[in-house]
Amino acid sequence: MQSEITSRNDKLHVGIIMDGNGRWATRRGLSRVRGHEAGVETIRRIVETAPKQGIGTLTLYAFSTDNWRRPKAEVAALMTLLRFYLASEVQSLVRNGVRLTVIGRRDRLPEGIATAITRAEAATADGGALHLRIAVDYSARDAILNAAAKAAALTSLTREAFSQLVTGEAGLRDVDLIIRTSGEKRLSDFLLWEGAYAELHFTERMWPEFEASDLTEALAAFHNRERRFGGLQAILPGEVPSLSRV
Ligand code: FPP
Repeated sequence: MQSEITSRNDKLHVGIIMDGNGRWATRRGLSRVRGHEAGVETIRRIVETAPKQGIGTLTLYAFSTDNWRRPKAEVAALMTLLRFYLASEVQSLVRNGVRLTVIGRRDRLPEGIATAITRAEAATADGGALHLRIAVDYSARDAILNAAAKAAALTSLTREAFSQLVTGEAGLRDVDLIIRTSGEKRLSDFLLWEGAYAELHFTERMWPEFEASDLTEALAAFHNRERRFGGLQAILPGEVPSLSRV
């Protein structure tokens, strides 16, 4: 298991803000829910291609704590899609060596979803090809706040230890690249701690039309950037400095 974590951590951690489902659907005279359904198809495509494109960890922003403010029917449809995804996708995730974990609050999710998440996480726990993290009822600020509350009880604290409290994972690689679709250019409370040095890539593409080739393009732009992590020398993707040395 340790070697799996190590080898996955040699690969990139990419976060994606999957934006534009509603606009994509409305422009086609479809319901917003149809846009979210098309968004799930994109998730399938991107999860399939991610390991082949050098990604070891993929974090997808599916539902923020602020998304509860959407119309009830849309929230219910998103929850139904999540439930359906968990039920229908596990076999294929296991087959493809994808480990699924869900980050964010679970106590406000409709009945049964928290249990379905726990089951899906257990069923996929051995996946070594890709760590897929889906953010649901998620707020980066809340994650940091909760970690701070836990840290208050400790007498000493390192960045690594605090990182584990924020992410819920020992040794999770910092986010290398955050992609946001649909032309919006903000982080919207996504991965604020783990993405401290993330490169940002914004594309006009709506999430339902985002293809494997768009991911290739984003990664090519990423590889062309010089990451210096506050120093003067470029640091290659395999040489990301540990938190304590940044
Ligand atoms: C943003 O587009 C998208 C969301 C708030 C939901 C993303 C959810 C999915 C892709 C599907 C459900 C997820 C899973 C894991 C089953 P928007 O609706 O805000 O688009 P708009 O800005 O054009 O209105």
